[in-house]
Amino acid sequence: MSRTTPDPALNTAVAASAEPATRIPIALAEGDGIGPEITAAVRRILEAAGAPLAYEPIVIGERAYLAGCPHGVPDEAWSAIRRCRVLLKGPITTPQGGGYKSVNVTLRKALGLFANVRPCASLPGASGARAGIDLTVIRENEEDLYAGIEHRQTPETVQCLKLVTRAGCERIIRYAFAYARAHNRRKITCMTKDNIMKMTDGLFHRIFDAVAAEHPEIATEHQIIDIGAARLATRPQAYDVIVTMNLYGDILSDIAAEVSGSVGTAGSANIGAQAAMFEAVHGSAPDIAGKGIANPSGLLMAAVQMLVHLGCAREASLIHNAWLRTLEEGIHTADLGASGAVGTQAFADAVAKRLGEEPQSRPPVLYRADARPALPEVAEPRPEPRTRAGIDVFLHFVGSPEMLAERIRSLAPHPPLTMITNRGVKVWPDGHPETLCTDHWRCRFLAGEREEPSFAELHALVGRLAEAGLEVIKTEGLYRFAGRAGFSAGQGA
Ligand code: NAI
Repeated sequence: MSRTTPDPALNTAVAASAEPATRIPIALAEGDGIGPEITAAVRRILEAAGAPLAYEPIVIGERAYLAGCPHGVPDEAWSAIRRCRVLLKGPITTPQGGGYKSVNVTLRKALGLFANVRPCASLPGASGARAGIDLTVIRENEEDLYAGIEHRQTPETVQCLKLVTRAGCERIIRYAFAYARAHNRRKITCMTKDNIMKMTDGLFHRIFDAVAAEHPEIATEHQIIDIGAARLATRPQAYDVIVTMNLYGDILSDIAAEVSGSVGTAGSANIGAQAAMFEAVHGSAPDIAGKGIANPSGLLMAAVQMLVHLGCAREASLIHNAWLRTLEEGIHTADLGASGAVGTQAFADAVAKRLGEEPQSRPPVLYRADARPALPEVAEPRPEPRTRAGIDVFLHFVGSPEMLAERIRSLAPHPPLTMITNRGVKVWPDGHPETLCTDHWRCRFLAGEREEPSFAELHALVGRLAEAGLEVIKTEGLYRFAGRAGFSAGQGA
């Protein structure tokens, strides 16, 4: 939602019917399930509003899978997306089993769509919607636990790697500030869990603080994600722009959509340097597909975001205001209340008929012509002196911490064994008898601060552990950066 200053160029009269001189090409995927119905409805509204678009239909998803394309995006679809650089996408069904890859994840990752932008505002007329909500969640879209690097390491233990990069954090945070400026937003809240994850979430928080210092005109704050999520659920009106990491953003954006009316009416933008994709937040709703009752609002709001991205602020404002007016008048699809519900087509017709009207219960939306945030420049990597400090060796072992320590110490390792943890908790030396120990152990071999063990030395140490019958699962190098430890201590260490 755009809280923007009035654009003098904005003319809220119904769009002129004259053929626009140039049309902007967009790739259009109608998707699966309810996708074709809601896409047709949205296209009808876009056309009625005079949006100057040239549609390039592409087939991705279920039909592509069934035609033998395992990732669901055929070559000709890639070509159209690359040519247009903008994709309006209906929901896609990911078939269960059969090793099919999610089209959504494939598109986000392959196209480098680093920013997920989800505006949420109180929905007029929706039962249970809180009044006065007008916020946008900006979620990092590529890193974090969603890198999808998972392993089963022992019979008892699986792991998922949380990868966070400086460039990834800086890019999404700078984008959030650019978005706030372009949409006249006044405050940005950063949410992380850096009281626990001091390195990964701590990096995000530190970069947020550094970028915030460059923007004194925008109020900023940081909240720990758990209390932040609780406050978002109870006091959503207190938020303006929220910037956060991938997993937290996924959860927060659903909370925000739900408290503002319905997750079914939310649209989202996925923005990258080379391409952008716009879609509803909901899925393909196979349970109601073909019945003509699906709500096209989520995809319509995504289309509004797309128009803003393309510089078509006038058409975006026209459609958004007509949609608000339609809901205000109590015209809605069955998902927002069975009583008096209309079908998909009738709802789209009602919105098209109200193009040029404005909502009465709240100020009209007025998107600025320059509301598309500039893509952020990210600083070049800074070389930082890195020295090797030791190695963490992860073992599969069944026994007590003392037994394990004894076996390792009998090998007189160098660098010396300084700590053993089990699930991150220090269990040797001086562990607590109450700590539950599983079959997954981390043994730390750490050199003194003035020493730098060679790679060959560490490699030989791992070899000796294995030769002594210890089951090595994996290792992590321990480094110091400009003299500062680049590794966390064990809990209780
Ligand atoms: P879903 O969002 O499709 O459906 C959940 C419930 O919400 C259903 O009862 C459905 O009828 C209702 N619903 C959803 N959208 C609606 C709309 N526009 N109007 C009225 N009611 C609506 O989620 P579900 O059932 O978990 O997933 C179905 C399929 O969609 C799966 O194959 C899943 O992988 C896919 N999916 C695709 C997404 C995408 O393309 N971005 C996102 C989420 C799921």
